[in-house]
Amino acid sequence: MKKLIIAIGIVGLIWACSNAESGNSSTSTTASSSTASETPKQEDGEKIYRQYCVTCHGLYGDMGASGAANLNETKLSLEEKIEVITNGRNTMTGFKSLLSEAKIKAVAEYTKELKK
Ligand code: HEC
Repeated sequence: MKKLIIAIGIVGLIWACSNAESGNSSTSTTASSSTASETPKQEDGEKIYRQYCVTCHGLYGDMGASGAANLNETKLSLEEKIEVITNGRNTMTGFKSLLSEAKIKAVAEYTKELKK
């Protein structure tokens, strides 16, 4: 009998806590969701480029490590770049297992900005 009373007490406590939490979070979730949608797309491509591409292409696309193509002088269209980044070419490895389609497109678009 004693156990049952304790159990009821615990359940009551949990119920009271979760109730208080849900009251608070309803205001905080609305605030955070509005900031998340404001993230600009451009920044994503730059971040991805710095993370995955600078090792060979350099910050400005013209480093040429391990024979990397100069991205300032590329004549490829956006579609062709996406193809190279997705599936790779010769020494460059493809990124389809690492990056989503949207991320590959963002980074391909960013390489256009490397042109001086
Ligand atoms: C391991 C080194 C390496 C990494 C990392 C790398 N690349 Fe490359 N990239 C190369 C090489 C080497 C070539 C030239 C391939 C060839 O000779 O066919 C190239 C070619 C390219 C081309 C084609 C340019 C042209 O004019 O033909 C594009 C576009 C490109 N890379 C974009 C990227 C992007 C974007 C990333 C990051 C997601 C990246 N690369 C990461 C080595 C690399």
